[in-house]
Amino acid sequence: MLTTTRHSNEPPIRAIRDEGNRIALDLDGGKVARLSTRWLRLACECEICGDTASGKRWLTPADVPAGVRVVSIDVSAPNEVAVIWDDGHVSRYDSGFLANHTGGGWRAARFQPELWSSDLGARLGRFGFDAVVEDDEMLFGSLRALRDHGIAMLTGVPAEAEATMRIAGRYGPIRETSYGKVFDLLSKPDARVAGETARAQIPHTDEPFRYSPPGFIFFHAIKTGAGTGGTSLMVDGFHIVELMRTGTPRLFELLTRYGVTFHREHAGEVFFSAEAHVISLDAAGQVTGIRYNDRCLAPQPASRDDIDELIEALAELTRLICDPQNQFQHQLQPGEVLVFDNQRVMHGRSAFDPTLAIRHLRSCNIDRDGVHSAFRTLARRFAPKEAETVLYQGAIF
Ligand SMILES: [Fe+2]
Repeated sequence: MLTTTRHSNEPPIRAIRDEGNRIALDLDGGKVARLSTRWLRLACECEICGDTASGKRWLTPADVPAGVRVVSIDVSAPNEVAVIWDDGHVSRYDSGFLANHTGGGWRAARFQPELWSSDLGARLGRFGFDAVVEDDEMLFGSLRALRDHGIAMLTGVPAEAEATMRIAGRYGPIRETSYGKVFDLLSKPDARVAGETARAQIPHTDEPFRYSPPGFIFFHAIKTGAGTGGTSLMVDGFHIVELMRTGTPRLFELLTRYGVTFHREHAGEVFFSAEAHVISLDAAGQVTGIRYNDRCLAPQPASRDDIDELIEALAELTRLICDPQNQFQHQLQPGEVLVFDNQRVMHGRSAFDPTLAIRHLRSCNIDRDGVHSAFRTLARRFAPKEAETVLYQGAIF
């Protein structure tokens, strides 16, 4: 027997009518929805057609002709719709799966992030090392916080590099970069990057000059000096770009539409350059990711007619980032790890005096899709309704 199995608890289907290139569904509550007949044939995941989730899939869009037609539809089995096609193929669908794809409000919703400003402290999710390492449900709680706020705090993390990797590895595979898997951030007299100096840093996203910037960043505090500066300054990039959208819509629009070039060169070793939107939007106009680091902005093409407006847009963005009202400020304590989405949350710090205290952070990063994969996988166990929500997919281009 050929079967298509889909889980679901969506509204049942009362009746189905064949209308040629559309199939009409009478849904519970009196609503009528229509599905494309060609779509329906392509949605078959029987053993012959194969399964799209695993990729063991054998039916292609080219195998389903535009004129494909239904011969008969049977809804007598509970929660199942059986369809016989004009070539004799039989498909079975879960009725909830069909109802879920009518676009009538049951479709997986786009996730709405919870925006924050200087008030984050009261809402910031805090999770203990042992709990996250040992308990999948606690890990899921922290993944939910990362989904909602783009940032979470882990506490009680031992100072060893092994512990940094052990806890970070719970969220996905650690990305190996030109700095290795785990990078020690210490002030040095021969600083190679700004992070190794003791100077203040305006909040930024890391490495916007890469086609695919780092995803989630882990900052593990090994040694920090209280009262000597080095305070972490965190900014919700989604919040400030929404401020721009309402306050200076023309400038907001420029940053969603024009490519801005970011670069990084160490002569003879690396030369990264990426032209990308500072603000990435999805088809519905919702922000999916940002990339911005004032220190990596290349000189932009000077002949553009709107170059002055573009510079003003970058200046306005920088002013919003630097406004303390938009910053969550926190003095990291040894054992704390700040985890944040580098394509949403900007990080910076106040200056510190390296002669008074050593500031040693250990850092690593994980691709965003790995973290969201961990979230969805655990959501199947702990919060099934959240598993298929469409999450914001980052700084796409
Ligand atoms: Fe950075």
